[in-house]
Amino acid sequence: MHGKKILVTGAAGFIGSNLVESLVKDNYVVGVDNLSSGKEENIREFASSKNFKFKKIDVKDSEALRREMEGVDIVFHLSANADVRRGFEDSSVDFRENVQVTHTVLESMRVMDVKELVFSSTSAVYGNADVIPTPELYGPLRPISHYGASKLAAEAFIFSFSSNYGLRSSVFRFANVVGKKGTHGAIADFIRKLSKNKSRLEVLGDGTQMKSYIYVDDCVSGMISLHGKEEGLFNLGTRGRTTVAQIAEMTIARYAPGAEISYVGGPGGAGWIGDVKFAGLDITKAQRNGWKYETESNDAVKRAIDDAGAAR
Ligand SMILES: NC(=O)c1ccc[n+]([C@@H]2O[C@H](COP(=O)([O-])OP(=O)(O)OC[C@H]3O[C@@H](n4cnc5c(N)ncnc54)[C@H](O)[C@@H]3O)[C@@H](O)[C@H]2O)c1
Repeated sequence: MHGKKILVTGAAGFIGSNLVESLVKDNYVVGVDNLSSGKEENIREFASSKNFKFKKIDVKDSEALRREMEGVDIVFHLSANADVRRGFEDSSVDFRENVQVTHTVLESMRVMDVKELVFSSTSAVYGNADVIPTPELYGPLRPISHYGASKLAAEAFIFSFSSNYGLRSSVFRFANVVGKKGTHGAIADFIRKLSKNKSRLEVLGDGTQMKSYIYVDDCVSGMISLHGKEEGLFNLGTRGRTTVAQIAEMTIARYAPGAEISYVGGPGGAGWIGDVKFAGLDITKAQRNGWKYETESNDAVKRAIDDAGAAR
């Protein structure tokens, strides 16, 4: 991707800021974020770049958003409530931040005549799939969290806008994304807990939860290299999978050798209500279209644990 004007929502977040890092090399990037979970320090390194502008706005503010869409070629829409557990406490947050906001982005693009959208969806749309690795065409889709439901609803609006108004769209269903600037998920949670208590780590679920972990650089390269290809729907993950017990052991080995693990259980051995216990994505389609990932699941986790140490 070269010489484009690109708007990134959620630019100060974990994946958004890593995406900006790749895009600013050859494009002009407008990053927008309300800094609800994102941090300005994540994008500080681009502040002096002539290829980057940051605007603190809430994407629900359609007027402000439209002003930033002037002359934009592509929108990467990453802003969201990305905290699955938060949706259980407040059942409206995913609807508001993930469905309504996506509609606001789409409608603003229509009004401002922006032709292309790239969207960060999730493996959570598959719920407890009985086919693993799960292909893009698996169905029926029955998410078990409001987060998964909201991303599926957002996808549906993206497809209807594409068919009604000729929008080019690409939807990427990510596995668990880990790496530099990561702030949520099991690794961040374990490191936080171990920094308070170096002798014991409390782990949600029974430890056998097993998922695919993709390193953030591979996730970003997938979005950039695959957008606009083959009907615009791709899983992005790794073939390998990692258990929560392995993540706990790797984190302990790095930050608190000798700490004991205590598994506190959860619904059916999962971490919490809405947590998909076993997830894996069929990535044949992405690979057939030329995408290769560099870091396998266990190594992605290990690398992300080291990244967190380097950032402390
Ligand atoms: N991290 C993962 O493992 C993972 C997996 C699957 C999908 N995703 C999706 O990828 C995207 C990025 O996730 P992330 O892990 O970087 O999370 P994140 O919380 O770090 O990033 C989200 C960003 O959006 C911003 N934001 C939220 N609501 C906003 C609003 N109304 N207006 C403006 N900005 C707003 C936040 O401040 C934050 O910077 C999300 O859409 C998430 O659902 C993430």
